[in-house]
Amino acid sequence: MFQGKGNQIVFSLLLLSTNYFHFFIGRANNPSIFLTDCLKKNIFVIVVKIRDIELGEFPLLLAPMEDVSDPPFRALCKKHGADLMYTEFISSEGLIRDAAKSVQKLDIYEYERPVGIQIFGYDIESMREATRIIEKTNPDIIDINFGCPVKKVTCKGAGAGMLQNIPKLIQMTDAIVKETNLPVTIKTRLGWDNESKFVVSTSEKLQDVGVEAISIHGRTRVQLYKGEADWTLIGEVKNNPRMRIPIFGNGDIDSPEKALEYKNKYGVDGIMIGRASIGNPWIFNEVKHFMATGTHLAPPGIKQRVEAAKEHLMMSIQWKGTTLGIVEMKRHYTNYFKGIAHFKELKSKLVTSMDLTEITDTLTYISENESEFYFV
Ligand SMILES: Cc1cc2nc3c(=O)[nH]c(=O)nc-3n(C[C@H](O)[C@H](O)[C@H](O)COP(=O)(O)O)c2cc1C
Repeated sequence: MFQGKGNQIVFSLLLLSTNYFHFFIGRANNPSIFLTDCLKKNIFVIVVKIRDIELGEFPLLLAPMEDVSDPPFRALCKKHGADLMYTEFISSEGLIRDAAKSVQKLDIYEYERPVGIQIFGYDIESMREATRIIEKTNPDIIDINFGCPVKKVTCKGAGAGMLQNIPKLIQMTDAIVKETNLPVTIKTRLGWDNESKFVVSTSEKLQDVGVEAISIHGRTRVQLYKGEADWTLIGEVKNNPRMRIPIFGNGDIDSPEKALEYKNKYGVDGIMIGRASIGNPWIFNEVKHFMATGTHLAPPGIKQRVEAAKEHLMMSIQWKGTTLGIVEMKRHYTNYFKGIAHFKELKSKLVTSMDLTEITDTLTYISENESEFYFV
């Protein structure tokens, strides 16, 4: 039985199986969420989609993070349950200039699909040109950053700077959607400041020009990362009957309990996780397991942490070369071994050494002597 209700469809399905009844009542205001009839099992599954990219019932996204969400880190997050990942933001101007740092960020690998490449910029023509460059690298999605609060980005009007000029933000998005055949998604904040939290109306306009999903960080630009993320307006965007595209909530999700609470409270289509995944790529499967069972997965022990750190290091070296790979890995050790007592000396060895053998020997020592270490 399907009943139309405005833009929403309220559907009730009564399925008869040989052994039992499945009574399923769902409510969807989102045509990109569709029903897959699992006839063999007699169950219906609701899957979130961005165009033809299926993301599962309640996708968990890895947030784009500069100097963090590079291919090695993304590989770990994928392994541990991330459903959709984004590159770090890439400057459109840098891409056009063929700046090595920007171009290297375009590297994506088959195993991490679906993956989106995120760009930022202030000039519409440059953003269109960057879109053409990105399209050639064959990502699954192009994401536009309208959320970066960093002064050197916003002072030029890019990132969250765009939130001070909504007509231009829409015009830029429209131009990019028209420039590419790929789905375009948006990552943004509530607004520029407390007086300009226009995310509800802006999201409608973004959808109208063809955006296919929006991730919203529950802070304004002025807040930077201060205070607590407020998901109230994210919930309003999601529950706006005009909205059909997936809305992903972002900000301060750092535990399975909080993820489940915010899922239920705000009704979002999925959750994007940033800082809580740094040094803790296991968070994606931990959240999924908790949502499915109400119980916790065993937290990663020392051996698992060492294994992940080694894997991360080797992939960094493979991707960036030995010197840069070792240097870039330094910022991650603190996170992998956060909360372990009497770890100072070993951490200092890991972050000061440039000798790969010494670093891997130190990691092996930690693993082989795990009984010496405990979490405080
Ligand atoms: C180190 C770091 C780098 C970030 N870089 C980006 C970026 O390149 N693009 C972007 O859209 N957001 C970026 N962000 C913001 C995150 O994607 C996310 O919105 C924010 O951290 C809030 O989510 P969380 O509380 O789960 O961390 C960055 C955040 C951090 C901490």
